[in-house]
Order: sequence, then C-alpha cells, then structure tokens
Amino acid sequence: MLFFGGDYNPEQWPEEVRDEDVVLMRQAGVTIATVGVFAWSNLEPEPGRYDFGWLDRVLDRLHDGGIRVALATPTASPPPWFTLAHPEAMPVGADGVRLTHGSRDTYCVSAPAYREAARTIAAKLAERYARHPALAMWHVHNEYGTDCRCDTTASAFRLWLEKKHGDLDTLNEAWTTAFWSQRYSDWAQIMPPRATQYLPNPAQVLDFRRFLSDEFLSGYLDQRDVLRAANPDVPITTNFVQGGWVSVDHARWAAEVDLVAVDHYPDDAGAGAEEETAFAGDLARGWGGGSWLLMETAPNLIYTRARMHAKEPGRLTRHSLGYVARGSAGAMYFQWRQPRGGAELFHSALVPHAGPDSPVFREAVGLGRTLKSLAPQVAGAAPPAAQIALTWDAPSWWALQAGGLPAADLDYPGAVRQAHRALFRSKLQTDFVFPGVSTDLGNYRMIVVPHLYLVSDEAAAAFRDYVAAGGHLVVGYLSGIAEPDTRIRLGGYPGAFREILGVRVVEWHPRPPGTEFALSDGSLAGRWQERVETAGASTVASYADGVLAGAPAITRHRCGAGSAWYLSTALTDDSLARLLASIAAEAGVEPVLPGVPSPVEVVRRGPLLFLFNHGIATAAVPLPGPGVNAVTGRDLGSVATVQGGGFLVVRV
Ligand code: GAL
Repeated sequence: MLFFGGDYNPEQWPEEVRDEDVVLMRQAGVTIATVGVFAWSNLEPEPGRYDFGWLDRVLDRLHDGGIRVALATPTASPPPWFTLAHPEAMPVGADGVRLTHGSRDTYCVSAPAYREAARTIAAKLAERYARHPALAMWHVHNEYGTDCRCDTTASAFRLWLEKKHGDLDTLNEAWTTAFWSQRYSDWAQIMPPRATQYLPNPAQVLDFRRFLSDEFLSGYLDQRDVLRAANPDVPITTNFVQGGWVSVDHARWAAEVDLVAVDHYPDDAGAGAEEETAFAGDLARGWGGGSWLLMETAPNLIYTRARMHAKEPGRLTRHSLGYVARGSAGAMYFQWRQPRGGAELFHSALVPHAGPDSPVFREAVGLGRTLKSLAPQVAGAAPPAAQIALTWDAPSWWALQAGGLPAADLDYPGAVRQAHRALFRSKLQTDFVFPGVSTDLGNYRMIVVPHLYLVSDEAAAAFRDYVAAGGHLVVGYLSGIAEPDTRIRLGGYPGAFREILGVRVVEWHPRPPGTEFALSDGSLAGRWQERVETAGASTVASYADGVLAGAPAITRHRCGAGSAWYLSTALTDDSLARLLASIAAEAGVEPVLPGVPSPVEVVRRGPLLFLFNHGIATAAVPLPGPGVNAVTGRDLGSVATVQGGGFLVVRV
C-alpha cells in the first residue's frame, strides 16, 4: 500500500460532515488519515479529564471504511488551561518576553511541567489506542523546532555544555571567550543567547542550536518510549520540517524515528517548485537511508512569500508522484478538509471550501487511483543509489546565519539547492551524504560540497580518502573554513580542504548582490570572488577582469587516483550546470535515461521509470527498450509520449 491522505481534523466538524468524510475518502482512494495533531484541548478539556469518545468514533469509522490512521500526540499545542496553570512552561524569546496561548507551538520543551503533561497525554493515547486495528503509525508532536530561552532552558543548556565540553577551560577555548571579555569562571554565568547590545558569540549561538536539537529529541524520545512500550510493533515517527529557524539536525535525528517523515512546502510558484520537490525528496531519502514518507504538502497551493498560488491542473499529481518516485512511501497532505475558521482558514485542502465538486478533489480522485495501481509495483523498491552525492550539514547552515560574516546574504540552503538544481537540469540523479554524521561516502563517482563551512578533521579525512581512491570531489567556496565549534582553521582558506584541493586562499572578495563577472572560459559568476594561489592544482578558469584578473577562479587538483575541483566563486545557474555536467561526464556518471527532452524529469524507482512533463508541449521520450504504461498496462513501444503537464510511469 502507498500512503495517500493527510491531516484530518474531525474535531472541527459535526458528525454528519465526519460521515461524509469517510465516503469521500473512499471515493478518492485515501488510505491513511493523520488524526489528532492539534486536538489536545478536545482530548483533555480539563486537567485530568479525558474525552476519548469522539476519537473512538473517528477511528472506528475510519477503520470500517478501510482507512488506516497515523495517530498523533497533540503536544505541539497545549490547551489554555495548561498555559494558565503553568506559566513557567511558556516559551521566552531572546528579548525576554514570555509568550502566552492564542496560537500553537507555545511551550518550553525543557519545562518539567510540559514534559510531564506531554508524556501523560501520550501514555493515555497509547493505553487506549496502541492496539486499535486502524493504527498504522504514531505521529509524535508536530514539526519540532519552537525554541525557548527561559531560565529552565538556561539550566538545561548548562548541563548539556558541561557534558559536551567537560570543563570551563575547554568551553572558553572553543567559544573564544577571550574576545570581548566573555571568559566564564562558573557554569552558572552562561546564558542561552538572549538580546545583546551587539553581535552575540557565534560559538555560543551554534552550541545553543545543537543543544536545542538534542533537547527536542529528548522530548520526542520521552513520548516514543511510552508509545513503544504499549505496542512495539507500531512504527513511530514525527514530521521533520525545514527552515532557517528550525534547530533540529535531522540527519542526526533520523536514527531515532522508525520512518523519516517530512513536510515539504515549495515556495516558488514557477518551475522552481518542481526543482524544490526533487531536492526535498532526495534530501529526505538521504535522511531515511533510502526510505521516507512525505507527511505533508499543500494539495492546491504554493505559498509564495506574498500570495497564494493555485496549482495548475496536473501539478498536484506530478508533485505527488515526484515524491513517490524519489522513494516516499506515499503522498500525504495538509490537509483533508479546508477549515471554516482558525488561523489557516484559506490553506488548501483535498476537499476545499467549494466541496468535492472541485478541480482539486477531482484530481485527487485520479491520483488515488494511480497510486493504488502503482503500490504493488513499487513495494519494497527504493530508487537505486545515485552516482552523485551532495553534502548537507545543518550546523554549517546555522553557523552561516551568524552576524559578523564577510557578507550578510550568505545562503547555505541556497548554495546546496543551486548545486542540486544544476544537476537536476542536467538530468543527473543525486543523493545526499552527511559529513560529521557518517564518514561513509559510499561509492559515488562524484561528490559536490557547497558551503561546508564547518568540518571536523575526521570528515575532512574521509573526503581525502575518497579522492585518493579515485573520487571526483567538487568543493565550493566557504567550505572547510572552521572547526565544528566555529574556530577558524589557520594558514589560508579553505582550511580543511587546502591540501586535497592544492590551493591556498589568502583573501575573500565578496561582491555586492547583482554584480556579474566573467571567467576566462566564458562562465559567468557573481556575489563572491577569492584570491586563490595554486599549490599543486592547475587552473581551469581564471577571473577575466577586475582586481583579480588572471588569478585562478576554478582549479583542479589531481590527487591519488581522483581529482578535486575548487570553485572560488558563485557561478550562475547555467555556468554551474555546465561545469558540473562536464565533471560528471568525466567521472563516468550516466543520466537516468539518455536523450530526455528538457522539460521532462525522469526518476527511476525499482522497475519503474517516472516521467514528468513539466512543460506545455507534448514530449517524446526514447525508452531503453519496449515499455508498458505501469498504470494502464498498455504497451508503449520504445518511445513514450508524455502530454504537456502530464506524467507517465513506465515499466521497461
Ligand atoms: C505545516 C504544519 C501544518 C500546517 C501547514 C500549513 O508546517 O505542520 O500544521 O500549519 O504547515 O502549511
């Protein structure tokens, strides 16, 4: 079975609507509903008084309809009574202001009262539903990531620091507290980052984010252990969310969930949404070691910064199948039914305000049918390992959000996405590896390392061994600069990678946004330049003019059986795509399928080739042999014709 469904909030609706829900879910081929995510005040209307009757009926009704349930613990939104009884468990911002209820995610994960209440409600749900026949998985909490800087958090932070650094001398050294007279002589002097006169200490900020990641994890583990004890056979997960504000290191968390579940909301209304979808799917598959689940996306909405954008016909289907092609165990949405009120009242749903007589519901019905026919064909099949990997490192992202860096617009995810996009446009399948989490770099022919600002000696050594053994390594600027605690590696940038790359960078030249300049090979670049000295590497392209005219911009170092390239500048999308494609060709990387016309995306999963035509015109895709339409069973011959905006799943 592929999971198809999403967040379901029957507590917002009267019984007759709940009856209709199951009828419509069956019509759409929904296989799973996530229930109870924000239902704490309905489940426990007063402290210690539980009302499970409505949830019993919901689960029974879904079960009778053949629909499985991802049952959530509601701990992302404590009820008002909890807030009033435990003001000390409400989060405090960097400015010292303590929040109150009225929205969601209002709790301090370190507060004993919150932790106790969360464990208790999880235990009550476990006691009642752990063996309910509808239960497919537990969905703990929702999108961990809300932080707090209160005194309780401060105490927990200090304990975490003591465990990490051992003694104050080590911490003082790691945080460079000799700068601006910040030397600590007692653990009690250390605070979470709070409002400061000017720039805070970047090492303190980074350690705080690492602490938060561990603290959220321990909140998750509290609940997981309670749920696990009630029935060890039910998988347990929580939905990961990406965002600059989220202090969760998902690569490090992944081992603690039974199935990596990811929420993904593209924010580019144009072709960028397809590229974001591919990126999110590849990254999630990396976290999940091959398997994962799209837990939430918006059925009919791309929320750009300023406005909502309704998806064009076919886009819901292409995006959803795109996640499945990239290994997801299904496609799930926020949300089933569009609410009548509340903060997200216009957020899209499979059943919109207009009702089931609507384009989005009709498309969902078709998608449900498609997923049903694909389910047995993808069962147990993950996409094959790619031949190229990209690195992802949450702490480098966090470190590059600090103030005091050489440019204010450094964009870690932007750099990784750009490299992914370049490979995506060249039809090259990409995996992710996580330096610092695992030193296993797999059997990749090529690894691309954008903005890996922090790197440990062990992680750097793994890259050295990789190149020595014949790997093709492409390192982007701002990599290898600092040790994991943000202390700069001396002797010239890019610190940890200087030797493998055979270069030494003595000066950075960040450029104003919008600047574009040429390299000697005709490539275009912007935003960043460096004064690079070669020390074993040869120059692939140099800066064409300006103060760095003639100096190396892109270099290559043959090293052992492999090669290491250095990109000291921010190439434009086209130039980066050209460079990466030529390195990939040299590394012997093959596209998933040769000869695919440009708007068509191809992904392989098990025996199936997923073809997505993101363009308007019909496209002809040469197949490697006679193919069969995996949905209809019809023979396709050796050329697949994919309608504009359409898709085709082919068994070859
Ligand atoms: C998710 C969240 C959902 C809903 C959705 C709206 O991040 O988990 O509850 O708020 O965003 O896009």
